[in-house]
Amino acid sequence: MTTPEAGFHQSPVTPASLPGEAAHADLVARLAREIYGQGQALSEPFAPALPASALPSPAPASLAIPGLDGAAFAALVPGGPDLLRRIAQDHPRAASFAEAIAPGFLPAPPAAPSRLAPAAPGAALGAPDYYFLPAEPRSVPVLPVATAFDPERVRKDFPALHQSVNGHRLVWLDNAATTHKPQSVIDATSRFYAHDNSNIHRAAHTLAARATDAFEGGREAVRRFLNARSTDEIVFLRGTTEAINLVANAYGRANFGPGDEIVLSQIEHHANIVPWQMVAQATGATLRVIPVNDRGELLLDQFAALLSGRTKIVAVTQVANALGTVNPIPEIIGLAHAYGVPVLVDAAQSSPHMPLDVQALDADFLVFSGHKVFGPTGIGALYGKKHLLDAMPPWQGGGHMIEDVTFARTVYRGVPEKFEAGTPDIGGAVGLGAALDYLQGVGLPAIAAYEHGLLDYAQGGLAEIRGLRLIGTAHHKASVMSFVIEGQENAAIAQHLDRHGIAVRAGHHCALPALRRFGVSESVRASLAFYNTREDVDVFLAALRTLPRR
Ligand code: ALA
Repeated sequence: MTTPEAGFHQSPVTPASLPGEAAHADLVARLAREIYGQGQALSEPFAPALPASALPSPAPASLAIPGLDGAAFAALVPGGPDLLRRIAQDHPRAASFAEAIAPGFLPAPPAAPSRLAPAAPGAALGAPDYYFLPAEPRSVPVLPVATAFDPERVRKDFPALHQSVNGHRLVWLDNAATTHKPQSVIDATSRFYAHDNSNIHRAAHTLAARATDAFEGGREAVRRFLNARSTDEIVFLRGTTEAINLVANAYGRANFGPGDEIVLSQIEHHANIVPWQMVAQATGATLRVIPVNDRGELLLDQFAALLSGRTKIVAVTQVANALGTVNPIPEIIGLAHAYGVPVLVDAAQSSPHMPLDVQALDADFLVFSGHKVFGPTGIGALYGKKHLLDAMPPWQGGGHMIEDVTFARTVYRGVPEKFEAGTPDIGGAVGLGAALDYLQGVGLPAIAAYEHGLLDYAQGGLAEIRGLRLIGTAHHKASVMSFVIEGQENAAIAQHLDRHGIAVRAGHHCALPALRRFGVSESVRASLAFYNTREDVDVFLAALRTLPRR
């Protein structure tokens, strides 16, 4: 394993050897050249790339631009300060270069090694050999449970798992479609309806006050889960799909025009394609697509090449629902912010599997669904930076989102109510809050580590099934195993598994462009959660071995 210290200064820098450094170094080189050469704002695409080797170490003093300090640099290069801060945190060599360009911009020498930690022993072969830690320690609430992770113990919390299907123990491997609910979520929801049920905010009586508290308690649970700064940044919506539609319509229609570009990836769920396509048709903007390699990993250099002054938003998934690829969101956000472009992160598939921190990521928008994080269906949330939400017009109109209405004009409420027209899913928000508390109690770092091992185990078994082709073999994957088997119909495989009590999904998984990249339009998809066990995987593999051969 390369230690971070050695990696930065001694090893040859290639995107493969140290993902991200080459791209960052290249951007600094381009920034320097642009500023030096033209001394004007970077509103148009950067000049052609300099090779990473063009970065001398340490940076020569001659790079310093007289009179250019941090404040002047911020005014001169929109998006530059964010980029330089990120670079300074991640890459000392590039940081010295940045400091040379704009002296005094970076307040303290970066402590890169302390921000890097070696990956866990046993990490997948080829996975990055370091990972990023948050820039500053965050205060994390002390939540109950938080003992060593034990799948057998958590399984007891999920009543739906303990049933027979077609004469067999249920093996639920359809977690990417939806997850089961712990008893605490079922109890919180039924307690709300049995005891506190009322509409919120509108009536001054005891149950209205209780319902309002319960609803806002759900919002606070979401804020805590995402480490957002304020509950004003959390909007309750039906789920990921509605949240993306809101951003596409409220942000997009206000900011996109003819010739503007929306950057998506080739492995998005339809929910992160179709709303953008609709708003593109309405505004004259166009979609640009980040391609993937044969393992289903985004090509970051091609992403960097797509960015320009025309780019108005980047919308990417953190975990691809049909392939399981974990996308390098910190790198994507760093590159987009270099152009002053906001990024929407679709966390529908990542939120059940890994810790999220919108401040550490510096995400502009992030969306997820309650039913995929062990909460109810029909509720989800949008996180948006407050200044972006404040500037966005409402999307849907109605009750609850207004301060005043006359036939001449309406005065809207502030965020988040401005985006929550009508009676919200109050019981859903209560259940979502309970689900997030449960998840944080179990502990997402422990969940991520456990699932990583289980996925490796399951993929190892799949590799031995004759004629099986795994679709999506990224080095960094979460939860999902998508596959086809030579000579077998996908639907027939799913039916065969169902006869053994095993639930998987067969079809296009609402990600046709992703599957077509691999020459298919359907697959069978088995997807894991922390309540799955090796025994579940063994049952699944055994059933696949008994598929009737044609
Ligand atoms: N979006 C969910 C899936 O991928 C339904 O299966």
